[in-house]
Amino acid sequence: MTEIMEIPLQSLDPKEFITGKVSEIARVVGTGSAINALSGGVDSSVVTLLGHRALGNRLTSCFIDTGLMRKDEPETIRAWFLNLGVPVTIVDAREAFFDALRGLKDPEEKREAITDTFYRKVFGDLVRKSGAKFLLQGTNYTDVEETVAGIKRQHNILEQLGIDTEARYGYRVLEPVIELRKRGIRKIGEALGLPGEMYDRPPFPGPALAARVIGEVTPERVAVVREATAIVEELLENTGAFQYLAILHEDRVTGMTGGRRDFGLQVEVRCWDSTDAVTGSPTRLSFEILEKLADRITEEVEGVVSVTYNITKKPPSTIEAV
Ligand code: XMP
Repeated sequence: MTEIMEIPLQSLDPKEFITGKVSEIARVVGTGSAINALSGGVDSSVVTLLGHRALGNRLTSCFIDTGLMRKDEPETIRAWFLNLGVPVTIVDAREAFFDALRGLKDPEEKREAITDTFYRKVFGDLVRKSGAKFLLQGTNYTDVEETVAGIKRQHNILEQLGIDTEARYGYRVLEPVIELRKRGIRKIGEALGLPGEMYDRPPFPGPALAARVIGEVTPERVAVVREATAIVEELLENTGAFQYLAILHEDRVTGMTGGRRDFGLQVEVRCWDSTDAVTGSPTRLSFEILEKLADRITEEVEGVVSVTYNITKKPPSTIEAV
């Protein structure tokens, strides 16, 4: 297991970092080709640009449509990168992910199923078809730290858990931003010319909306979280908060819909003040915003009769629910 050393923000020189990583990627991949996993988050966006600078069209950037993404996400991301001169292939893998998640409720089992579908099935197939021997991905220092500490298994941590990707999946994984935390990665994104709306996006987890569905992850339950997420993002994007999200609970509660008793769904809203996701506290939102969230989510998301706001700090909470 290789020990990863953090590059702290104070000692990060973006230009030097970019030059170093671009030549390292070019050297390691040599005359071969690579695939890169683009989710549209800042980490994988930065890695996509580094890889593109190093390899040009020998890098195939793939956006995997897992069925777990936010509203309009695949097309939005493809359009953004096309603008930057980077073509993105959308891979429809919805069936594979929902098949793997069927019947699973345990958080770690769900994460394991996502990891396995992602690396073995979807990327394994892509790599076999393309002949690429490398996968570039945006693992960051916080992912490593939390996984090694046993807090939560991040979907993208492999080597630190002793997984030999070459033996298990048939390709090597390159992680150019693994020594950086979010703020450092944003600085690199800015220096690479990513537009602010991209490098300043709130973090979004690799397992996507599955990290926000407590209990079984089905297309219908993801659709509920997707709708609620769109409302939360619209109403909270100007708060300056670190991250904000909607979670679907497993339990149902009694409510009233159209004047009748309805045993309906509960959505929990979380909004975090944090600098690095390691610790966090709930943003002190105005009651007016909270009421607006409750009104819009119950009116616009079918089946929801209860909306709550999480008032717990991390720790003991974590940012996501799964
Ligand atoms: P937690 O929930 O562990 O989240 O407090 C810390 C930060 O990491 C994001 N997150 C993930 N990111 N893969 C990722 O790439 C994951 O499996 C994952 N789980 C959580 C989360 O959104 C927060 O910013």
